[in-house]
Amino acid sequence: MATSQQATRMQSGLPSDTAYLTARARAADAVVTPARRLLDDRFAALFVSEPPPPRTSEEALARLTALDSAHGGFIAEILLRQRFFEDQLIHAVATGVRQVVLLGAGYDTTALRMPGYDGLRYFEVDHPATQRSKLETLVQAAIDAPSATYVPVDFEAGDSLAEALVEAGYRPDLRCVVGWLGVTYFLRRDAVERTLEGLSGLCAQGSLLVFDYMDEGVIDGTAPYPGALAMAAKVSAQGEPYLTGMTPESVSAAVRRAGFWPTDEARVPDLVRRYGGADPYCKDDDFMGLIAAERAVRDSRESGAAA
Ligand SMILES: C[S@@+](CC[C@H](N)C(=O)[O-])C[C@H]1O[C@@H](n2cnc3c(N)ncnc32)[C@H](O)[C@@H]1O
Repeated sequence: MATSQQATRMQSGLPSDTAYLTARARAADAVVTPARRLLDDRFAALFVSEPPPPRTSEEALARLTALDSAHGGFIAEILLRQRFFEDQLIHAVATGVRQVVLLGAGYDTTALRMPGYDGLRYFEVDHPATQRSKLETLVQAAIDAPSATYVPVDFEAGDSLAEALVEAGYRPDLRCVVGWLGVTYFLRRDAVERTLEGLSGLCAQGSLLVFDYMDEGVIDGTAPYPGALAMAAKVSAQGEPYLTGMTPESVSAAVRRAGFWPTDEARVPDLVRRYGGADPYCKDDDFMGLIAAERAVRDSRESGAAA
């Protein structure tokens, strides 16, 4: 198993493979018959070359269910965490939020699928190696995302998220929505904590933070989900090891310490119940969770931290 001491894939200058896996799953889902489609990310296929995206719903379902048989719960997490985030985003935009920060954006296509929204700006923050690959693809495809600004940051290298965002035009005095999806478990604990602390200074009162976390048991090998443990071994072998696990309790405490107040939470089975439709094609192994939390006023932060 890889350790935090080994150079990761991105430290070697290669784009994230797990971001590619995510794009592949989303591209396949986009071909599934509408009644069973989980996300509908019609731009994901842009980023997928090998193997080419499936062409029929049957082929797409065969590929997705094969992955889900080996790694139960991942399809739900990869596709439905985005639905959870987009629900939060739509609600925040309806209340006047006009800044979105995507941390570890990978091949996320929210800025392409939900572009205008009357002045909405996206700040896509990612490791330079992955971001370079995304931008090359967009240029080759002649696709412009006018609402997106790209901000290269390595969370592990001690880069200042605040400086990079403000330099890119982000306004810390205005509310924002932060999506940090599919990332925390790939970082060392100190990088997760440093990023949360940084967000505390960057998010105006009323801002919303949404992120997912992996259970400790997947990291230490004690989780009762063989598919999740097999995925942990696989990503580790590919140079993107899972490094940090959390529990629903520790994640809630961590966001409170950073000055946020939890407003919604969902585990994988909740995601499938909420967004999976009448006949979900994905399993619901319960080894990951999502949290949405609002930047509280300073007083709440202090009482929240004590709670
Ligand atoms: C599984 S992908 C998730 C991508 C996207 N958020 C999504 O849900 O489709 C993990 C992302 O985390 C980013 N990442 C991992 N380690 C990072 C680091 N040290 N600094 C910045 N980004 C990092 C990768 O570049 C990649 O885009």
